[in-house]
Formats: sequence, C-alpha cells, structure tokens
Amino acid sequence: MTAATRERGAVPARRRGVFHPLTVASVERLTDDAVAVTFDVPPELAEEFRFEQGQHITVRRVSGGEEVRRNYSICSPAPDGPLRIGVKRLEGGAFSAFANDELKPGDTVDVMPPLGRFNVPLRPEEARTHVAIAAGSGITPVLSLIATTLRDEPESTFTLVYANRTARDVMFLEELSDLKDVHPARFQLLNVLSREQGEAPLTSGRVDREKLGALLTAIGPAAGVAHWYLCGPLELVDAVRTDLAGRGVPAERIHFELFHVEEGAPPPRRRGKSESAASTRLAFTLDGRTTTVDTDPDEPLLTAALRVRADAPYACRGGVCGTCRARLCEGTVDMPRNYALEPAELAAGYILTCQSRPTSESVTVDYDA
Ligand code: FES
Repeated sequence: MTAATRERGAVPARRRGVFHPLTVASVERLTDDAVAVTFDVPPELAEEFRFEQGQHITVRRVSGGEEVRRNYSICSPAPDGPLRIGVKRLEGGAFSAFANDELKPGDTVDVMPPLGRFNVPLRPEEARTHVAIAAGSGITPVLSLIATTLRDEPESTFTLVYANRTARDVMFLEELSDLKDVHPARFQLLNVLSREQGEAPLTSGRVDREKLGALLTAIGPAAGVAHWYLCGPLELVDAVRTDLAGRGVPAERIHFELFHVEEGAPPPRRRGKSESAASTRLAFTLDGRTTTVDTDPDEPLLTAALRVRADAPYACRGGVCGTCRARLCEGTVDMPRNYALEPAELAAGYILTCQSRPTSESVTVDYDA
C-alpha cells in the first residue's frame, strides 16, 4: 500500500499515553517568536513515530515542579518526512518560551507518538479541490496537509488562505514559496495581513465576517471544494464554519483543529434537587488492560482514570486535542464541550474523557478502540 492510499487505521497500534525521550536534531528560527524543532527518531521507534499528514505530537516538560503537556502539529509531509514541529511563543507559554529561548540540538524532550485525525484519506486517482484557512501557528498541520496532498494527489489543487498580523509573523514562508514554485498551477496562496498592506485590498485587513465572505467568494463556488481544513483560534474557525454552512457545505467536508483553548475541564454539572452525587463505577481499557475505579457525577472520567493509571492519555484537558479520546461502550455521560471530535466520531460513540462526566451508575470506555 502506498502512502497516498493509507487509511487512518494504517498507522501502527500504539501504547496510548506513553512518552519516549527523543533527541533534538535542530532548532531553526522561523520568525521573531517561532521556531521549528526537529527530533531524531531512532530506528527502533520509527514505526511508533510514523505519522499521517495533519497529526500532532504531545511533548512533556516539568516546569516549576509541575508537569506541562503541550500539543504541536507536525509540519512535514507524511509519512516519511522528518518529525518536525512549529512552536510559536505564547504569552506565559511554559513550553513555547522554553523552546524559543533555551532548547538546542542534543537536548532531550519527552514526546508521545503522533495522534490526531485532522486529515482525509488521499485519492491519487482523483482531481479534487482542497482549501485550507489558517491563522498564525495554525499553518503547522496545514503545511503537512498541503505538501502531502500535492505530492500524492497529482491532479488535485490546494488553496491556502493564511492570516497573519504582518509579513514578519508568517511562519514557514520559505516552505510555502517552495511549494508554489514546485506546483505553480496547483497551489494558490493568499497571504492576508491584518496590520500591513497585503498584495491587494482583498488580502489586507482583519479577517472579520465581511472579509471572510469576500475571500470565500473569491476562492470560487464552495460546492466545488472537496474538503475544507480550518486551523486557528475558535473565533475564526466558528466564523468560517458558519459561513460555509450558509453556503450549503456539509459538515463532513469541513475539518478543523483549534490551536489552543482558554478553558480546562467543564464546571460540575448542575443537579436537580432529587439527584444525588451517587457513585459511578468506571471501567476503562487501555493498552489491553481493563481497570476499574469509583467516580462521581462531578468528576471527569479522565481525572478518575488518572487516579489509578498514570498512563491514561491526555494533553490539553480542554476538549481541543482529542488525545483523551475513547469509545463509550456502556453507560451514559455528559460532555458539554467538544472541539476535537467530528460528527462521524460522535456517531460512532467516541467521547473526550477529559470533558465527560458520568450520568449512569456504571460507565465503560475503551481507549484502545
Ligand atoms: S486532553 Fe485534549 S481533548 Fe481531552
């Protein structure tokens, strides 16, 4: 099977939640506040770290006595590009500041193998139109999507709308220019700058609803686009989804990934007077082993699982990354927030355990499913 025809399930089975120490091969400066970090993957871990376009890794670091986990998207073509991530400095960012200021080749970082479903199976025999809309560091998974798709779907086209404040903030400028040079007829790049004059009025100014509408109209009929990929802050992603829905684009053609979230776990569920905080028995399967623990309606399933299994997988704890995904096999849960699972996954019974609280006496979930 070629890389282009790989289906999502073709990546190797992995032990969820397990970190491996990887050596940093290089740290390249992309902008004043962003770097690309490439890791050396030893031959014995090559299969474990094989990735699909659009996937991310989780890095772990202890900072101020506290464990910090962060997700970063892989920016290389899949499946054989280098394990390379883009790290943009965030205000107060415990890992991003470290990566920008201190990380150097030869250092070791704990890394969880690639995860994520921000992609679609490629179809080399088809000529499809793909469109991505990214802002800031949202370019990172999109770069992998574009490079892989243009290489493995030789008849398809890709349009990227990339929003930044100024030209100095544009990450991976060189890689994007290279892609344009190699695929001049199949790759269209619209760099939109909010605080500088862009190349045309359309590409100058903030991407508000009006600008967004004009950009989407300029791209062409939405019905002709096979897949839309959105990556950026929630406000932008929501605005694009709303606009596309208004243009009749079905939800299954819109794929999105957020790059951060403010909130953590949802607040405790409000119970009616007659409801009590009864105990729930949670059984979860992880790496082939089933463990049980008692929990209650106020506790997210992930928190309960972590009390008895330190390897329960998670990263953001905000309903964004999908690392804590598991299939609900028995019982019911309340999951008020979900920025990670697509409609098909929800229909198949998947939940985010960091956001789900039990609403039945027993709940069974499977992290391996
Ligand atoms: S840990 Fe990120 S969605 Fe649950």
